Amino acid sequence: MGGLDFSRRSSAAESCFVVVIALSLLLVTQVRAQNIGVGFYDQSCPRAESIVTETVREFNSRDATVPAALLRLLFHDCFVEGCDGSLLLDPSPENPDVEKAASPNLTVRGYDVIDAAKARLEVECPQTVSCADIVALAARDSAVLAGLNFQGLPLTMATGRWDGRVSSRNAAEAALPSSKSNVQQLTAQFSNKGLSQDEMVTLSGAHSIGVAHCSNFMDRLYDFPGSPNGVDPTLDPDYAAELQAKCPRGNPNPNTVVNMDPQTPFVIDNNFYSNGFAGKVLFSSDMALFNDFETQFTSDLNVVNGITWNQKFGNALAQMAAIDIKDDFDGEVRLNCRRIN
Ligand code: HEM
Repeated sequence: MGGLDFSRRSSAAESCFVVVIALSLLLVTQVRAQNIGVGFYDQSCPRAESIVTETVREFNSRDATVPAALLRLLFHDCFVEGCDGSLLLDPSPENPDVEKAASPNLTVRGYDVIDAAKARLEVECPQTVSCADIVALAARDSAVLAGLNFQGLPLTMATGRWDGRVSSRNAAEAALPSSKSNVQQLTAQFSNKGLSQDEMVTLSGAHSIGVAHCSNFMDRLYDFPGSPNGVDPTLDPDYAAELQAKCPRGNPNPNTVVNMDPQTPFVIDNNFYSNGFAGKVLFSSDMALFNDFETQFTSDLNVVNGITWNQKFGNALAQMAAIDIKDDFDGEVRLNCRRIN
């Protein structure tokens, strides 16, 4: 009996110990999580944010497609291993299968902008500003440059992220949504990252800028199952004809790209939603937002109220930029964004 009592006492003590450890971990996580905040570099590198802004502006003045590239870069970084710059890591002999090599990432652009900002920041304040923060700030600046109207208020972006040391091609293949996903799959993938369905629909409005390769929507233009003329019946017929002219059967030039917003391809706005209801969005995943009962209503509200959408987009961008932040415990401030230290 005594033995039994002892084991009960010991298991009670063990449970107590586990609870204490769990609580302290929770506390530590919370305290660490507080390290991210607006103006993190105000003391350590006061010009950090303006250096990123100047760099993004400079690249944008030479190539107006840069903001689109940088917004997508943040999304693809944050959805895999959190917002930790893991997407920036080049393959190495130790790790040839990095995120960058995953198929959805093969068309990600904008690494040169991040490298340029990092080089300037290393001169200004060595070993201080993380690559993950540069990616987040550059995306914020891109939204502003593309005309996001945050009701005249500055679009703030918290900083204080650390750079990760892990980058996996398989993890990227699994976490990034495909242009063929349905609403349930998209909702689940965003929910896995702590983002709501509303935020998913809101952030999809980023597809009002930038370009897409024909391969991502060719299946809607030719031999579409069950369609008498082979075209996805949810596509506007005139738009489908335009797309067929740009992306001929067989995709002879795999580098051909098409603007995602036919009217204002460089302005981030709620056109994405009116385009969607008019059958003028490129991907089945985007089209699904307008045909699925669950997301139709939110999409409709975003058409009607562009001001609210702008605000929601700014807030959702900040939420996305806070996914699984690393700290000094599991991260570092890289010297070169393409290599771990
Ligand atoms: C909802 C799920 C999403 C899917 C399935 C998706 C898929 C895609 C695909 C297939 C492309 C075309 C890439 C190419 O052919 O070069 C693309 C481009 C783009 N995506 Fe998304 N995306 C999603 C969400 C987002 C989010 C949340 C953002 C940012 C907030 C975003 C921003 C962009 C931008 C700006 C481009 C244009 C990039 C460029 O011009 O290089 N996307 N997306």
